[in-house]
Amino acid sequence: MLSGTTGTAQDTAQRIARQAVRRRLRVHLSTLDDYNVANLISESLVVFVCSTTGQGDPPDNMKSFWRFLFRKSLPAGSLRRLDCAVLGLGDSSYPKFNFVAKKLHKRLAQLGATLLLPVGLADDQHDLGPDAVIDVWLSSFWGKVFALYPRLAEMIPLREDDPLPPTYTFNFLDDLNAKTDDCLIISTQASGLSQSHPFAAKLLSNERVTHPKHFQDVRHIEFDITGSDIDFTAGDVVVMRSCNAAEDVEEFCQLLQLDPEATFSLTATDGSAVPARLQQPCTLRYLVESYLDIAAVPRRSFFELLATFSNDELEREKLAEFSSAEGQEELHSYCNRPRRTALEVLADFPHTTAQLKVDYLLDLFPAIQPRSFSIASSLRAHPHRLQILVAVVKYKTKMYKPRRGHCSTWLASLDPAKDVYVPLWVKKGTLGFPADKTTPVIMVGPGTGVAPFRSALQERTAEGKNANVLFFGCRSESKDFYFRSEWKEMSKAGQLTLFTAFSRDQEEKVYVQQRVRENAALVWDLIANKGAYFYIAGNAKDMPNGVRDALKAGFQQQGGLSDEDAEKMLAAMEKSGRFQSETWS
Ligand code: 2AM
Repeated sequence: MLSGTTGTAQDTAQRIARQAVRRRLRVHLSTLDDYNVANLISESLVVFVCSTTGQGDPPDNMKSFWRFLFRKSLPAGSLRRLDCAVLGLGDSSYPKFNFVAKKLHKRLAQLGATLLLPVGLADDQHDLGPDAVIDVWLSSFWGKVFALYPRLAEMIPLREDDPLPPTYTFNFLDDLNAKTDDCLIISTQASGLSQSHPFAAKLLSNERVTHPKHFQDVRHIEFDITGSDIDFTAGDVVVMRSCNAAEDVEEFCQLLQLDPEATFSLTATDGSAVPARLQQPCTLRYLVESYLDIAAVPRRSFFELLATFSNDELEREKLAEFSSAEGQEELHSYCNRPRRTALEVLADFPHTTAQLKVDYLLDLFPAIQPRSFSIASSLRAHPHRLQILVAVVKYKTKMYKPRRGHCSTWLASLDPAKDVYVPLWVKKGTLGFPADKTTPVIMVGPGTGVAPFRSALQERTAEGKNANVLFFGCRSESKDFYFRSEWKEMSKAGQLTLFTAFSRDQEEKVYVQQRVRENAALVWDLIANKGAYFYIAGNAKDMPNGVRDALKAGFQQQGGLSDEDAEKMLAAMEKSGRFQSETWS
């Protein structure tokens, strides 16, 4: 069973499932929330693969399982018949490294389950990626399983180069006029919105807000959410799924010699459900465009499966090397470092690609992962509307073509004049603003980090008088100063105190933290005497720590606190929710 947000958990769980099938075990693979937890009592062997989010929380698709498992009413011995193992996927650069996996391991033991081996602690920070730990853990896991089931150890496993049966069968509809619902595939149901039932929001505008000559393209995008019951407050995030670029879809279909108009429906070979968000029947074009993640950097399991199709000696040897434990350094330089996409890999292995069988498409490619954006507007100021501020990600590696962010590039390409609908849903973010709107807030949001603060300001200024301080930073007043006229108006109306740091408008760089230091007296007064909340949002790598240090220095200078007491005060504010940050890379 798996849970995770990045696809690593899914990929790893699939890999373990394939190993189990090769060892002739009957396997059921499921995300934790799709699994009926009550059945755990009667399972014989379960592997939990789970990731940990930045804050140490369980991923979204594990939350209901988590709540159930930690119910106080569960008797201590309820899982005593269960043999299981927990493999955690984490990142040691975060303080709560693999917190969820460790906690799950402990809880399962508490409920009486037999844990076959210590919890696996895979680490994204490892030079060779999480596989470095996973490989070792898995071989130890199989050792334990064979000790437990000696007869299994005696069986001859299926050969590594034998492709296993695909998870799904594609049933092509012969009737050329077979009607498909391609254009209606997005459910427009208005309530219970989620990943499998998003709301199709009409795109109303898509405006570049940086100077045309500025290096970065940043978009202010607006959606119409009329007819949905979407409700949000400042700090919430909108989640959406992007599509592959049309030229990538064409190239993919050509490489695999697929007819994009062919219409099919899926059946799972083990009788289980087909992915809920893939309405049936649909065309191959729809599948490739909106479901298969062909633009992501492929994982090792992709090469493992690809190798089984190859009847070209050179290509097969290379693919086998990339799949082996010894070939991981080489795979890393070939794929991860230059951020090579799955589509580019297919083009590098043309003979193998031409042999791929369509039934394996969903085994080869994970589903496109949804992406989250801080909501930049408030329903108070823009009823029935939802706005975001998106930096279009583009960077160079040694690959000839620049690398592009999947969702931001796709969003930027959408033309509001063309009746475009984007499937989206909303979830709680990490930032929360005081319910009492008279409580002052201080917000530090350089770049697109300002998005949630615009939402908060629109919400708060609609409620009458309150104290709002915003520290905004960008490169240049004339190039990337987002929403400047709005800030001006709010300031004029006495609703906002704005401090700006234009990093490149003068010789010396100026950052928001410098402005926080310069205004320590105001910041201290609001925090120490008026109960202000303090927020940081943004994507600059060292910015959050820089601002934190500036704030602490202000506490020392203005409040006469020692370094230790200033740190204590910050920690207390953090604990009570008066110091919050949301940062991304
Ligand atoms: P720079 O790109 O000129 O270095 C929004 O991206 C703003 O955040 C830019 O002005 C950017 O400046 C600035 N920025 C970059 N690194 C930062 C840091 N460590 N702390 C604060 N601001 C930073």
